[in-house]
Amino acid sequence: MPTVRTTKTISVASILLFVISTHSVAGEFGWEQQESSPAPPKTAALWKLPADAHKLKNPIEAEDATIVRGKIVYDKFCASCHGATGLGDGLIGKRLNPKATDLTDSKKMSQLTDGELFWMITVGKPPMQRFERLISTDDRWKVVHYMRALSK
Ligand code: HEC
Repeated sequence: MPTVRTTKTISVASILLFVISTHSVAGEFGWEQQESSPAPPKTAALWKLPADAHKLKNPIEAEDATIVRGKIVYDKFCASCHGATGLGDGLIGKRLNPKATDLTDSKKMSQLTDGELFWMITVGKPPMQRFERLISTDDRWKVVHYMRALSK
């Protein structure tokens, strides 16, 4: 039955053609590129932050006094892990797994909004403790400003 065979050949050919054409169309529109290089993962996604945390604006002005206060809070609560200058080389921090983050890494820090930083300090992520009850709301926002100063 030659007709059946012809139909079969045609359908195989059209499937092949379909595969080839969608492949090249995808290439043309850059879809393939998108698949092979996804956006860098935001570390904030690994923390238990409120869904709208990234939208929060820092309610406190970044004045000199704010930075001075932020440093006092940082030295007391953060430096043991994140290091005196934020490099993640504090006495405790460098022995942890994962190690305490280098807060001077401006590329990493620029991916995080003030709201995300504020909430990271608020809720913590073991081994980093939850600072909600240890540091006042205003002081947590001031530490955020201080971290910005460290990563400049
Ligand atoms: C007990 C040690 C410890 C203390 C104290 C500590 N941290 Fe951390 N911190 C860590 C560790 C460890 C991580 C990495 C957690 C991870 O990636 O799983 C981290 C991560 C962070 C991050 C996230 C950066 C990123 O990777 O996206 C921020 C921001 C941060 N800490 C700020 C602070 C601030 C501000 C303080 C003080 C209020 C503080 N930490 C106190 C250990 C600590």
